[in-house]
Amino acid sequence: MAHSLAVITGASSGIGATFARKLAAEYDLLLAARRKDRLEELATALKASYKTNVDIFVADLSNAAEVASLADKIAAEPRLGLLVNNAGFGTLGRFWEASLASQEQMHQLHVMATVRLTHAALRNMVPRNQGAVINVASVAGFVRSQGSVSYCATKSWMNIFSEGLFLELRGMGSRVTVQTLCPGFTYSEFHDTMAIQRDRLAGKALWLSAEQVVDASLAGLCNGGLYVIPGWRYRLLTAVISKLPSRMRLAVESARGKNRVDQGAKQ
Ligand SMILES: NC(=O)c1ccc[n+]([C@@H]2O[C@H](COP(=O)([O-])OP(=O)(O)OC[C@H]3O[C@@H](n4cnc5c(N)ncnc54)[C@H](OP(=O)(O)O)[C@@H]3O)[C@@H](O)[C@H]2O)c1
Repeated sequence: MAHSLAVITGASSGIGATFARKLAAEYDLLLAARRKDRLEELATALKASYKTNVDIFVADLSNAAEVASLADKIAAEPRLGLLVNNAGFGTLGRFWEASLASQEQMHQLHVMATVRLTHAALRNMVPRNQGAVINVASVAGFVRSQGSVSYCATKSWMNIFSEGLFLELRGMGSRVTVQTLCPGFTYSEFHDTMAIQRDRLAGKALWLSAEQVVDASLAGLCNGGLYVIPGWRYRLLTAVISKLPSRMRLAVESARGKNRVDQGAKQ
């Protein structure tokens, strides 16, 4: 029997590449990102190890036309089983000090690409009553942070968007599921891209491997839960922070975010 297809954005490194490795035994794959060489290398390795079909889709998903072309592919794929909206990046510095282009690009990638690709995927999955969408948000979606305004806002949007979809799908009794995956600090290229020193952000106990994150996500997929927050420390943190009155939360976040702004200022 033909495998279902999993589409993974941001599959050229980190969490996305780990999703690809973990899913290759069960799914055919369509891997999307900008770095063609990385995608080709991963596709070749996975095809050799798992005898599975792996295609690549080279695209800048902050570009509306390129997102539309991936959405068309997703809409037309009868074997679509999973969409992982994972591509993402962070920036440094206060909102008005960072380039406007980088802030717009982040909203295009985290918000508009997620809207467009999820719309195409659900139009395909819901009539067949099967499939799942994983939106890779972040623990940052539970907080607001100096030096990370657009990042927190877009990841928070992903959580709320996923909650709405969850309610709609459950409300109509659909077997299609949606998950919002909220990793905390995770070893990947994410912080290297911003030239951030990891030890200045958090102690070792708070860092997760991409394997831990993806294992938690895939385990969560089996029980159909909406939020997956890998690691007990982050589950505790998000539970507490969500319950704080906003004045108290803002006071905590005022102190916490300063280090990040200072790092940005040194770039
Ligand atoms: N690492 C963390 O601490 C952490 C924590 C919470 C949430 N997350 C989220 O996890 C997701 C994956 O990040 P990661 O940690 O695995 O970081 P990563 O190793 O830097 O991977 C980011 C991926 O996104 C792709 N990407 C970035 N901009 C893109 C664009 N314009 N178009 C297409 N693809 C693009 C990158 O590929 P190309 O450069 O080849 O395009 C890469 O494959 C992100 O959404 C991030 O916000 C990360």
